[in-house]
Amino acid sequence: MAEQKYEIGMVGLGVMGRNLVLNMADHGYSVTGYDKDLSKVQELRAEAGSRVINAAQTVSGFVSVLSIPRVIMMLVPAGPVVDSVIRELMLYLRPGDLIIDAGNSHFKVTDLRAKSLADKGILYMGVGVSGGEDGARHGPSLMPGGPKEAYARVRPIFEAVAAHVEGTPCVTYLGPGSAGHYVKMVHNGIEYGLMQLIAESYDLMKRGLELSDEELAVVYKDWNAGELNAYLVEITSHIFRKVDEQTGKQLINEILDEAEQKGTGMWTSQDAMDIQVPTPVIDAAVVARNLSALKSEREAASKNLNLGITHLKCDRGEFLTNLKGALYASMIITYAQGMAQLRIASQVYKYDLNLEDIARIWRGGCIIRAALLEDIRAAFHRNPDLPNLLIDSHLGQEVLAKQDDLRAVVGFAVKLGLPTPCLMASLAYFDGYRSAWLPANLVQAQRDDFGAHSYERIDEKGVFHTQWE
Ligand code: 6PG
Repeated sequence: MAEQKYEIGMVGLGVMGRNLVLNMADHGYSVTGYDKDLSKVQELRAEAGSRVINAAQTVSGFVSVLSIPRVIMMLVPAGPVVDSVIRELMLYLRPGDLIIDAGNSHFKVTDLRAKSLADKGILYMGVGVSGGEDGARHGPSLMPGGPKEAYARVRPIFEAVAAHVEGTPCVTYLGPGSAGHYVKMVHNGIEYGLMQLIAESYDLMKRGLELSDEELAVVYKDWNAGELNAYLVEITSHIFRKVDEQTGKQLINEILDEAEQKGTGMWTSQDAMDIQVPTPVIDAAVVARNLSALKSEREAASKNLNLGITHLKCDRGEFLTNLKGALYASMIITYAQGMAQLRIASQVYKYDLNLEDIARIWRGGCIIRAALLEDIRAAFHRNPDLPNLLIDSHLGQEVLAKQDDLRAVVGFAVKLGLPTPCLMASLAYFDGYRSAWLPANLVQAQRDDFGAHSYERIDEKGVFHTQWE
């Protein structure tokens, strides 16, 4: 009997890798998996059941059962592990084989790896996978980039396993080189912004309005039923109801207030700075995580610098309406910054991104999925070259309609001394973006005064310098 050959291989059988293997097998694909941790190989074997899944104990055994040309996906931690897996695989691969990095690798590293493997005739794809463990098992959003011919090879599998919205899979070819990893990085930057905005709304309700956990759960559940409908809002409402098994109290209050990060949000901000795209909500969200990590300093400072936060003196119902509007406007502004970054990055890195497609594949499966993404998709459908969602006829008006809510909320936060960096950054960005005139003329004059950096005039073309003294 001919030896069974497998259509695709997975290196890395942590919960994400294992779930994706099961998902592919459930859609009729034969898959072989490998992990250097034998207990994970055994776990896959145990879970495989009657599915066509092989669990290999060695790299050579793993590679040898794959159909040629081989398709190998890696779901291992970003960083040096990816290089060591590639090195091991390269002992057995042949020109024409395809390696897919489905982790959160930095896009510039993906480009370097793709180039060095292309020299050896190996195709390389960087694919963003979003949706966590559940997404991997039941339908993630996939953000593939790399050679077009490589995508053609995996397209049927990707379309089968991805989440589906209105019958359309949440995956499409995004562009060459590191396009997929770049888009996933910005997805995560937006994720950081949305999470921090929701956290600020929680703070305003918890410390400002003194709402109980149950009341918070009800508010987020209610918000999730309307225009704020989003996966992150939905899980927030569940979080407030979760009881800690150890203490029997609400788990949320037993969790240390220090947010960690693996780096993708910071990379989004760093690259936005490099390509000079303003993304202040994402920047502020990264900073907020860094500030949260200074727990002992904050505790010490709170003793000397305590403002004695008291609750908000306002109509609770009215404030909640303001907060809902403020969060909605800020969420639009966060997506606007991420999409604007993608638009410029597409030019700088020659990705030729289609922003409508990106909004479309983010509507399901991924962490930032939200009802809003259908409006965002429609905005780019109306105008594929839209520079900013704030000037879309629909979304711009939505923000305008809620700007008073945002101003009211930020005003309350300022008076109380409750930190709302992302809400404030949203408002400042809105006010800056919609301002036909900005005081940058003074900055130019100062630059020219102290450093003869020159300036442009509004009444005449050219570059000018003045002897200011
Ligand atoms: C996703 C997530 C995921 C990311 C986590 C943790 O889309 O499924 O973005 O890829 O790893 O959200 O990221 P941080 O540790 O940086 O918060």
